[in-house]
Amino acid sequence: MVAFSAQGHLNPMLRLGKRLISHGLHVTIATTHLQPGRRLFKPSSSSSATGHDIDFLFYSDGLDGRKVDIDTFMDSLSQHGPTNLTKLIHQNYHTAPSDANNSTGTRKTRRRRRLCCIVSNPFVPWAANVAHDLGIPCAMLWIQPVALYAVYYRYYRNLNPFPTLTDPDLTVNLPGLPPLRTEDLPSFVLPTNTFGAFSKLFSEMFGAMEKHASWVLANSFHALEADVIINSSKDLFPVVPVGPLVDPSLLGKGEEEEADGAVNLWEVDHSCMEWLDEQAAGSVVYVSFGSLATLSADQSASLERALKEGRWPFVWVVKGTEAGELSTSSGGGQGIVVAWAPQTKVLAHRAVGCFVTHGGWNSTLEAVAAGVPMVVYPQWSDQPTNAKLVEDVFGVGVRVRENGDVKMVVGSEEMGRAIREVMDGPKSEQIKGNARRLKIAAGEAVAAGGEGTSKVSVRKFVDEIVGR
Ligand code: UDX
Repeated sequence: MVAFSAQGHLNPMLRLGKRLISHGLHVTIATTHLQPGRRLFKPSSSSSATGHDIDFLFYSDGLDGRKVDIDTFMDSLSQHGPTNLTKLIHQNYHTAPSDANNSTGTRKTRRRRRLCCIVSNPFVPWAANVAHDLGIPCAMLWIQPVALYAVYYRYYRNLNPFPTLTDPDLTVNLPGLPPLRTEDLPSFVLPTNTFGAFSKLFSEMFGAMEKHASWVLANSFHALEADVIINSSKDLFPVVPVGPLVDPSLLGKGEEEEADGAVNLWEVDHSCMEWLDEQAAGSVVYVSFGSLATLSADQSASLERALKEGRWPFVWVVKGTEAGELSTSSGGGQGIVVAWAPQTKVLAHRAVGCFVTHGGWNSTLEAVAAGVPMVVYPQWSDQPTNAKLVEDVFGVGVRVRENGDVKMVVGSEEMGRAIREVMDGPKSEQIKGNARRLKIAAGEAVAAGGEGTSKVSVRKFVDEIVGR
């Protein structure tokens, strides 16, 4: 598996890796060296039912630890990644089927194993070309909703009209999705997008995928996105949902952090768990904006005011890079602030009644799998579309708005309104009911020993790559 070295990309890769191991495959994750000062906190016990772990191998991004902007990083990665990854593969594996008889079982003899498939990540599109050059099949793991796959695909392949500088407010109508207004679209497809590196990346990705990928696997499940999955299969490169990759059966059993396969780029602070034990069921608001988004001082202040005024007990993840200093971090009894939480454990705790999130897809799916309703405060990338899905398609939460429209900085009154709506407002019973139903559906999609849609798809995928 070739992963982009970001938290939101490593977790789904590692979790899919766990599933593949449970089918008897050996899995290695290859990623670039982490930024200086970053460590990879792997689960303390990552052994699986088959008794072997996921290995990590690192290759150079060509920057030798230099800190650069994202455009330079992506350029260097696509320039040096293919050669360095190929070298790494040759050092560790055979790739010819005829060498399969030489394969043996222990970790020490990994160099004698046959590499039967590369699973790439959308942010390393060139990995599909590496697989092609080595003569092995390639699958791509799409780590966002299928809805986003459809939006990006149709945008980068010019299959539908999207907003332009001359028509910035165009509503986008795509098969299987509700009408998407500008504020519902991912920031990368807007005419105002300033992240050129990502546009280039997505174009390369769809090109490499159409040329060389045999499968596109998605971290989603049929019952969650049935309409867009069915409609996309009619005219787009087929996408196979294999999620939720976080394992719903482990959430709430106290062992999920080790067992669900997440890695952490920050050290996990468990101090909030004991505090949660003392709170009433469904009373706590959990606040986290994932690994990349940071709130401005104004955004933090509104949210803090809303929590104070609403008197909701809270757990708030503040990564230490946010603008301004949260006064709540000095205590006060109402809430607890941590630098990095054991998120799946927190979401599964009976005390948590609402998740205030940026709407990153991992966080969203983890909340769906745990049955926790959401208040979505999207910041960029896929998050506005995820917010639209949460509110209008899944019906498991609300999106914050200001003056009826979406704004980057929302006031404390609006934050308070949104949290109240989920906790005990007129729509809260409906939202909680939907969350309970989707939690069950998520569990059924992947249940061990079951015949859920995602479970069956993973089995088929394994059978196909092993059979090649
Ligand atoms: C990025 C993008 O920003 C997001 O929009 C896209 O959908 C995926 O890639 P990120 O912003 O990090 O991801 O958010 P998210 O997808 O939610 O992933 C964060 C991961 O970190 C989750 O798996 C979450 O469980 C974990 N996490 C977060 C923790 O373990 N502890 C924390 O305190 C916060």
